[in-house]
Amino acid sequence: MEFSIKRGSPEKQRGACVVVGVFEPRKLTRGAESIDNIAHKHLSDIIHRGDMEGKSGSTLLLHNVPSTLCERVLLVGLGKEKEFHEKAYCAAIRSAVKALNETGATDGTIFLTENPVKKRGVSWRIRQAAMIAQETVYRFDQFKSTASEGIRPLRKLSFTIERRESLAQAEEALAQGLATAEGVSLARTLGNLPGNVCTPGYLAETAQQMAKEHAMECQVLERADMEALGMQALLSVARGSHIPPKMIVMQYKGMKVGKGSDKATSGKPIVLIGKGITFDSGGISLKPGLEMDEMKFDMCGAASVLGTLKAVAQMKLPINLTVIVPTTENMPGGSASKPGDIVTSMSGQTIEILNTDAEGRLILCDAMTYAERFNPETVIDVATLTGACVIALGHVATGLFANDDGLAHKLLQAGDDAQDRAWQMPLWEDYQDLLKSPFADMANIGGRAAGSVSAACFLSRYCKKFAWAHLDIAGTAWKSGADKGATGRPVPLLVHYLLTRSGKLN
Ligand code: BES
Ligand code: MN
Ligand code: ZN
Repeated sequence: MEFSIKRGSPEKQRGACVVVGVFEPRKLTRGAESIDNIAHKHLSDIIHRGDMEGKSGSTLLLHNVPSTLCERVLLVGLGKEKEFHEKAYCAAIRSAVKALNETGATDGTIFLTENPVKKRGVSWRIRQAAMIAQETVYRFDQFKSTASEGIRPLRKLSFTIERRESLAQAEEALAQGLATAEGVSLARTLGNLPGNVCTPGYLAETAQQMAKEHAMECQVLERADMEALGMQALLSVARGSHIPPKMIVMQYKGMKVGKGSDKATSGKPIVLIGKGITFDSGGISLKPGLEMDEMKFDMCGAASVLGTLKAVAQMKLPINLTVIVPTTENMPGGSASKPGDIVTSMSGQTIEILNTDAEGRLILCDAMTYAERFNPETVIDVATLTGACVIALGHVATGLFANDDGLAHKLLQAGDDAQDRAWQMPLWEDYQDLLKSPFADMANIGGRAAGSVSAACFLSRYCKKFAWAHLDIAGTAWKSGADKGATGRPVPLLVHYLLTRSGKLN
């Protein structure tokens, strides 16, 4: 889809559809009013007949509105004016794009971006609108032999801004929103792909392709490389599978040497690590059958860091970003790891594998030790790590753990700004005892109580040398039920964090 920023009056717009808002109850926005005035109160009449209350999320499509130059006018309910905050704004954009996409219109001009939103400026409104629009038209139907719905004619979307607003800033915000949306869409598609297609090798190829497109470095470590490096924790997970594990390492270098926007970091990279279990059967500690198909989403952490990198490369942000993806299947098999097995991680610390289903931490810990060689300024890992995190936070907030409060604060803020929220969980020393093992330096599980905390405690033992945060996306990376599918979270959070770090937000 093509996007643009426009200025002008709704009543003078030509084209297939103009989109304006109505507050509840029955109150026209400025944009709707200007159409109403030229159309001899056509909109007021309709509203007073009771066809459009203005309830949040409702829409009403009108054809041939008198004296207008456009083919259609789409009224979108915004809810109560007093309550028109971030959530209502996003809901309005979503319903507008959904409704537009269901008409025969080839283009749409959305005036909703002009409505003030408490605490949020025009750049935020445009960025968010672009992301929501792309998210709304996203489809994953490559495995359907017949397209599920007819061809969608909608090709062009314009967002409008008021005259006094800067066009250049709005256009930059649009580009940022679209880049984020591309990252989200990549993450969703990789997540949605089945485990027999999206294998470690497939992720590696995707990474290499992306590296080529954006002139980045991409290295893929094979099993033999991992053996040479002593990555026995990662390798222990891969042992039950017939397909080879990979460790993908990508380096994006956007910071001009000596001219960093952030002098204190002197070019040290931010490192993102994503859990890439392309299918998690649990291994010998086999999972129950119910909903096991959803364990194809166990590489959503990997997908999200690749998506984030794509967005960053597209925006050419002036930062250095390294992405590491340890990726393998977790399968039972004759040579699979068994409960009670002890392995030595790359760090030298030994691990007693009490449950082969706690495999995420085993592949992440070796990736974390490997990250040390990049002398990272910050390390953030993203993982569908624990069912316990879903119990704690549901499907709303991502679990955030960090050994650095400044970093935690920045990520929470980014999540809030990008409508992709996280909630901080404790990482106190008191919890470390959960991981005691009589035979090795640590066990790989800490029992049922505080399951997501003990998992984070495990990871913290491999992150002593840098500022680190861990995002547990077990509850937020995908949706179950009727609209099952990957969400692309936390790409918006991460991209927003990196935009802030680059000083590129306005
Ligand atoms: N990938 C799962 C976590 C998961 C489960 C995410 C369900 C989303 C929904 C992870 O590898 C896992 O199996 N974790 C175990 C850990 C336990 C054995 C300590 C879990 O959460 O049950
Ligand atoms: Mn598991
Ligand atoms: Zn897993």
